[in-house]
Amino acid sequence: MGKRMLEVTGLHAYYGKSHILHGVDAHIGEGEIVALLGRNGVGRSTMAKAILGMVKAEGSVKFRGEEILGRRTFEIAHLGIGYVPENRDIFPTLTVRQNLLLGEKRNPRQPKPRWSVEDMFNMFPRLRERENTAAGVLSGGEQQMLTLCRTLMGDPDLVLIDEPTEGLAPMIVALVGDYLKTLKERGVSVLLIEQKLAIALDISQRVYVMGHGHIVFEGTPGELKANSQIRKEWLEV
Ligand SMILES: Nc1ncnc2c1ncn2[C@@H]1O[C@H](COP(=O)(O)OP(=O)(O)O)[C@@H](O)[C@H]1O
Ligand SMILES: [Mg+2]
Repeated sequence: MGKRMLEVTGLHAYYGKSHILHGVDAHIGEGEIVALLGRNGVGRSTMAKAILGMVKAEGSVKFRGEEILGRRTFEIAHLGIGYVPENRDIFPTLTVRQNLLLGEKRNPRQPKPRWSVEDMFNMFPRLRERENTAAGVLSGGEQQMLTLCRTLMGDPDLVLIDEPTEGLAPMIVALVGDYLKTLKERGVSVLLIEQKLAIALDISQRVYVMGHGHIVFEGTPGELKANSQIRKEWLEV
């Protein structure tokens, strides 16, 4: 594995007085796809928000060796971390194309932009058909595709993606799987928060399982597949 992109050490997070993360350690290598699994309510989304400076947190979060904990969300985004939140995040009155162009940002570390609007339409042909349609009238699945694509237009080096396949039809889940494979091919690092074990095991190189604000398992997809005790205790419902 190459250099560390992200290194989280002893991370605690809070909403007011509720203490949600209790010392999380995790890392993501350059170009690595890492899945973060766990049951609902264990703190996976909170971990993404803590990395992005969106909740009160303590500990350390280093991006390319630089401490980012305590910095503001827009500064963190500018360093090259993209975020696809769990709720679909679009501008409803703007068209699909306008939404994509609004997400466009140059990454100073890339000699040329890694992604074009055309790449997005090739990954999700449905978005091309809806190019001039107001995003607010798209279906839930189409809005999810648009959210995934808008984040890529910012040319991030690392993307935190929170439950991208939640509530989607199997055909769209498969397209999201292809999208993640394309990110891998182009060397983008990913933290994939998922509920669906199959997708996470298929796409990621390493897996974390979170339980009650702690990491309870770290290993390869193969190791998680072989560990029925961890799956029973922390994943299966
Ligand atoms: N805005 C909030 N205010 C207070 N508590 C919250 C808030 N968001 C989440 N929580 C609580 O934090 C815990 C972890 O939530 P979350 O990180 O969303 O879990 P996950 O993403 O793993 O389902 C849950 O107990 C949840 O109720
Ligand atoms: Mg969540």
